[in-house]
Amino acid sequence: MPTTTDLLSGFSLAASNTLALPSRAALYARITSAKQLTALVDRYALAPRRFVLGSGSNLVLTGDFDGLVLHMAISSRALADEDADAWYVRAGAGENWHDFVQWTLARGWPGLENLALIPGTVGAAPIQNIGAYGLEVAERFHSLSAFDMRTGESVRFDRAACRFDYRDSVFKQEGWHLDGRFVITEVTFRLPKRWQAIADYAELAGDLDARGIARPDARQIANAVIAVRRRKLPDPARFPNAGSFFHNPLVEAVTAERLRAAHPEIKLYPQPDDRVKLAAAWLIEQTGWKGRDLGPVGMYEKQALVLVNHGGATGADVLALTRAVQRDVSEKFGVKLKPEPVFQPSSTASF
Ligand code: EPU
Repeated sequence: MPTTTDLLSGFSLAASNTLALPSRAALYARITSAKQLTALVDRYALAPRRFVLGSGSNLVLTGDFDGLVLHMAISSRALADEDADAWYVRAGAGENWHDFVQWTLARGWPGLENLALIPGTVGAAPIQNIGAYGLEVAERFHSLSAFDMRTGESVRFDRAACRFDYRDSVFKQEGWHLDGRFVITEVTFRLPKRWQAIADYAELAGDLDARGIARPDARQIANAVIAVRRRKLPDPARFPNAGSFFHNPLVEAVTAERLRAAHPEIKLYPQPDDRVKLAAAWLIEQTGWKGRDLGPVGMYEKQALVLVNHGGATGADVLALTRAVQRDVSEKFGVKLKPEPVFQPSSTASF
């Protein structure tokens, strides 16, 4: 059980967010077991604001946080079950995502290889339904356990209860990612034994082709994904960033046609539900923001969708660039870009 000494006051979050933004939390607790949360239910009820911090890789700290921060550090990895069709692999919410993916591959349980090298924790993965190179985590998700800070009970969410969508889940839809109500403690993945490679994504296919690999195994796909990501995405140690900074917008077919008429070279990705996905990186590039800075922040020169901190930036600098990019894309294309990371304190940011 945590004692009051486990709660730290005025804790700096600067080293706990990959954009390296300065921020202090009024109250901070490092959570290493689900039991600790029971003892924090009362503090949760009293706090004016709360949020759950993973590895801070999808987070914009807009200022100091006048509330309670629960920093997830629960670690465990195990084969929970196995049947004729699948391995069921369970991991603590605080596990590093990429290390977990590597561990499953080393054990001979394929299925997560397309999601290699995504920054963040296991517990954060379902919240925004992480995805890359033709796979979303929803497709490998079985269930999760979450601690309800309002009732003090542990709740199980299966796949349907998570209401997964593109970079979205019930946790975001209900705003629980902003108020920390449900703290995800562990996640179980279903890795099918009848494994099939997913290697159609153009850049991934190109990398495998260049290596002369026609029928890749899971390890080879992971290696190719890692190579592609390293080529294009900034290393957070050198260029602090939060991954893709905007969602790829989904528009109606008529809007896509209007855009194509005005901009014949636009990149359009028709979806199964008749909507059309636009490449946010392309829209940003067309407005001239690729490789361009505003104060200490800028849109990365090799991937226009990634906002980088060149050093010394604050949340206000990030908000200014967010709004400038949104304004220019909206003026040129009539499309509103939605930021992908979570903003905290959320009340200081409205889009
Ligand atoms: N493009 C440009 N300019 C650029 C970069 C890309 O025009 O500077 C074009 C590319 O030519 C391509 C299209 O935009 O036609 C898509 O680019 P890319 O394949 O790099 O992927 P993305 O749509 O920019 C998404 C995810 C990434 C994920 C990659 C690979 C979102 C918001 N982002 O990026 O996820 O790794 O696909 O699957 O869906 C993240 O969510 O943090 C993230 C990194």
